[in-house]
Amino acid sequence: MADQEIPALLRVLNGERLDPPPIWIMRQAGRYLPEYRELRTRAKNFLDFCYSPALATEAVMQPLRRFPLDAAILFSDILVVPDALGQKVWFVEGEGPRLEPLIGQETWSFGDSEKAIQRLAPVYEAVERIRAAIPKDIALIGFAGAPWTVATYMLQGRGGDKDDARMEVYRRPEDVDALLDVLVETTAQHLAAQVRAGADCLQIFESWAEGLPPLIFQRVIVGPTRKLFARVRELGVTVPIIGFPRGAGSGIGAYAHETGVNALGVDTQTSAMEVIEAAPEGMALQGNLDPLTLIVGGAALEKAARDVLNDFRFVPHIFNLGHGITPQATPENVERLVKIVKGQV
Ligand code: CP3
Repeated sequence: MADQEIPALLRVLNGERLDPPPIWIMRQAGRYLPEYRELRTRAKNFLDFCYSPALATEAVMQPLRRFPLDAAILFSDILVVPDALGQKVWFVEGEGPRLEPLIGQETWSFGDSEKAIQRLAPVYEAVERIRAAIPKDIALIGFAGAPWTVATYMLQGRGGDKDDARMEVYRRPEDVDALLDVLVETTAQHLAAQVRAGADCLQIFESWAEGLPPLIFQRVIVGPTRKLFARVRELGVTVPIIGFPRGAGSGIGAYAHETGVNALGVDTQTSAMEVIEAAPEGMALQGNLDPLTLIVGGAALEKAARDVLNDFRFVPHIFNLGHGITPQATPENVERLVKIVKGQV
């Protein structure tokens, strides 16, 4: 492939520095887009939406029609994995996900990984359709939740603070380790299947890395993530993997050095200087504009975006937010942001 044909996102993931940097937006297909809200009404519930290859493909295409983004991300959810493992999962409008919690159940049992992957066939069909629908110079990102983050939802049955999940690590350490092992194996197979279907790179969402004592951080995040990546490689996957350990704080260095991750998603609260210092030299860094600036817009957005560009100018950088875009953000502000990053204003 000639250089120009390799998607900019992949060039940066391979360690190149590009000016302007490639840009995509976490949750770029979502409720801030009126056409997404319309599309969403066509499925009975959110999981059905995720399991419809046609609807998922359309959701991915929507932001690409509006903005010249450098990547598309599979439309799915991190909670399809517990669903496929046989745990009851549903979404309450305006509140978020609910699961039948493991906490309080005497024994924790799950379906096997191979069956789970069979149930996830519509997701891989969506990946194939999306890859066929988007131009070659746009990278397609596959994704999954990291074992600990998915485990917190499985344990507690909902989001909110993660105290109950953390207490379970002290109360039932062996059971939690066994749960994390099931998630490592199933998630590895889920990621490998996405790559076989056409994903160009992968992102792992560790949304709940915050608040853990260092030893627990090692036990539930660094250890299982290292196992996950090793297993993904064993399954023949060679594409780059972006890890996004949101809220890792002082654990970011251990995460960057010890898991085998290829690139680092940087959250809103972390300074560029901190992460550049903590990560191995030359590692691609992705982030970290405050998503709230896409609600506020105007001069505040302009300044915040230019600050991010400036802070990461000496490293391989992928422009993104420090967390997912909110439903209150406006498409006009996103359009403006992309122009700022691309140097068109
Ligand atoms: O980024 C994308 O455009 C791809 C799609 C994507 C979704 N969820 C679609 C979605 C991705 C990458 C995710 C990841 C995800 N899901 C995470 C990790 C990222 C993060 O935000 O920390 C987590 C923790 C989940 C679990 C989950 N799914 C929650 C907490 C919610 C409710 C969020 C809310 O704001 O209400 C969901 C639902 C969900 N997943 C929506 C979308 C577009 C909104 C539901 C809807 O459209 O009805």
